Amino acid sequence: MTSGLLTALCAASLPIGIKVHTLHVESAARKLGISTMTLTHCKTTGNSLRILAMMLVEQMPCERMIGPYHCCSVVEGDCLELMRRLPDGCVDAVITDPPYGIDYDTDYRRFTTGFAVERKAWPKVHGDDKPFDPTPWLRFPTVILWGANHFASKLPEATWLIWDKRFPNGTAFLCDAEIAWMNKGRGAYIRSITSQGCIRPEQIQHPTQKPEELMAWCLEKAGFPELTIDPFLGSGTTAVAAAKLGRHFLGFEISPEYCRIARERIALVEAQPSLFAAKPEQQKLALDAEGAS
Ligand SMILES: C[S@@+](CC[C@H](N)C(=O)[O-])C[C@H]1O[C@@H](n2cnc3c(N)ncnc32)[C@H](O)[C@@H]1O
Ligand SMILES: [Zn+2]
Repeated sequence: MTSGLLTALCAASLPIGIKVHTLHVESAARKLGISTMTLTHCKTTGNSLRILAMMLVEQMPCERMIGPYHCCSVVEGDCLELMRRLPDGCVDAVITDPPYGIDYDTDYRRFTTGFAVERKAWPKVHGDDKPFDPTPWLRFPTVILWGANHFASKLPEATWLIWDKRFPNGTAFLCDAEIAWMNKGRGAYIRSITSQGCIRPEQIQHPTQKPEELMAWCLEKAGFPELTIDPFLGSGTTAVAAAKLGRHFLGFEISPEYCRIARERIALVEAQPSLFAAKPEQQKLALDAEGAS
């Protein structure tokens, strides 16, 4: 990190109300090996100091434990087993895209016409060959389940979230939309995010990968929960969205390969010093009583 970079970053806008305590910044900077010279430069303007604080807190790993699990991590295993070790009341939201129980054909070589799609044979989605039972997940305070039109008869009346996948001209490669159920309210909400086959901003690493923007929308609909779990994490999209929004997450995934991919995607987000919101206790570090800035 150079003082030139910090000066340039001064131009960037910061969330309103950010206040930094110099001592906290100094101690974080020491831990991360930031030079005294850079720190001295930062102290010359309040803005530089605030930006440095934001950058520092984002580089600090989450140190929380959720029962036996490291918070903000991916745990490999069967979620029905793993969830038993979650302490009562620790999870604010379950936001997930489970196997729908439709035995979905993931051999995309079958698509010979239509829009761009990588024509490869993906492994089948684990557990998709038997009906999905949402019951174990309904006890959490906020719940969003994708694919819920396939198991709607097992859900009480609540809210529907509709992801309109169509191109702006109204056409679509397969279906026009996908649907999620949310346990709060009784409305229906639509979000349009064009994502068809390979036409999407992210690299595809899972046959049923959701767009990051969609999972970020879910987090917003859930009220930006402090801790969200995704027990059917797949390639890690929910975790990536949560990390970018500065929220805590925990992902369970049964496939070792998808665990690896999810961890890699999360690490990429965490490696980017960005000006996304910091996690709550990181905010405490940066937002502490107005002190010495
Ligand atoms: C529909 S996919 C989720 C895809 C994800 N939304 C994404 O963006 O990559 C469901 C995932 O749940 C995993 N899965 C199925 N049964 C599971 C179980 N009992 N415990 C943990 N993971 C499971 C599958 O391996 C699959 O990756
Ligand atoms: Zn965390």
